[in-house]
Amino acid sequence: MSMESTGGVSVEDPNPVRLRMVDAAIGFDPEQPLIEGLNLEVRAGEIVGLTGRSGIGKTTLLRTAAGLVKPLSGSVECCCTSTTRAEKGAIGLIPQRLGLVQHQTVGYNVLMGALTEASFLQTALSLPSKRMRDETREVIDEVGLADKTLESVNRLSGGQQRRVAIARAMLQEPDLLLADECLGELDAETARGIIELFRHMAEDHRMAILLVDHNPVRARTFCDRVLQLRGRRLIPFDEDEESKATLPLIEEVGS
Ligand SMILES: Nc1ncnc2c1ncn2[C@@H]1O[C@H](COP(=O)(O)OP(=O)(O)OP(=O)(O)O)[C@@H](O)[C@H]1O
Ligand SMILES: [Mg+2]
Repeated sequence: MSMESTGGVSVEDPNPVRLRMVDAAIGFDPEQPLIEGLNLEVRAGEIVGLTGRSGIGKTTLLRTAAGLVKPLSGSVECCCTSTTRAEKGAIGLIPQRLGLVQHQTVGYNVLMGALTEASFLQTALSLPSKRMRDETREVIDEVGLADKTLESVNRLSGGQQRRVAIARAMLQEPDLLLADECLGELDAETARGIIELFRHMAEDHRMAILLVDHNPVRARTFCDRVLQLRGRRLIPFDEDEESKATLPLIEEVGS
């Protein structure tokens, strides 16, 4: 065993790095980056929380991790292995603005949204596999929307739509999940159910999860680490006692 481990080739790390940002600057204007000197690793099986005031760059950081925005400098690397899941993508993004197809049903959004573009074309030619359809039903049930599967998304409440976006990402079962304020608009009990689902995906499916939560107190209850953006820097939340007084302490009131 030790021979193998010193060989440095074939030993599998149980918690491989899924997202690696090294000395990165992030934003849109090279003269005025939103975030500088950013070093971040997120590993399989861990949930990392990200917090900070409105407009500081949380969404931009997530979009950069997803490859939708280019870093201004430094490197941003997603280290995913999607070979076993040809039908699905390696990075899942639950955007702050949910990106749902409003006039389509819950079932359509979850199933079609989870497929990658290439397999979407395949799907257009041959119907989705029975396995994918069964998994779609399961995941919609898990977010508590089983009775809404055939409902049009534009007839759902904000929190219900948020859960559709969560189900879509869960079905995709990505190596790296990026979730932008997906617990907003949810009552405490529903949010708890979603958090349990995230923990299950991290622990049992070795998903790496980076999520934005405006509520650092809640984030600390279920994240392995909570980080905050402050003055263009990403710093651990725990080590900055003073910030507890300045970060938003008003809880979202569940509807
Ligand atoms: N495409 C873009 N081009 C230029 N500037 C942008 C773009 N998208 C966002 N910004 C700016 O970048 C800054 C950070 O925005 P971002 O959406 O990342 O903030 P945030 O921390 O997610 O805020 P919130 O908590 O309100 O969601 C804002 O000043 C915003 O106006
Ligand atoms: Mg945002």
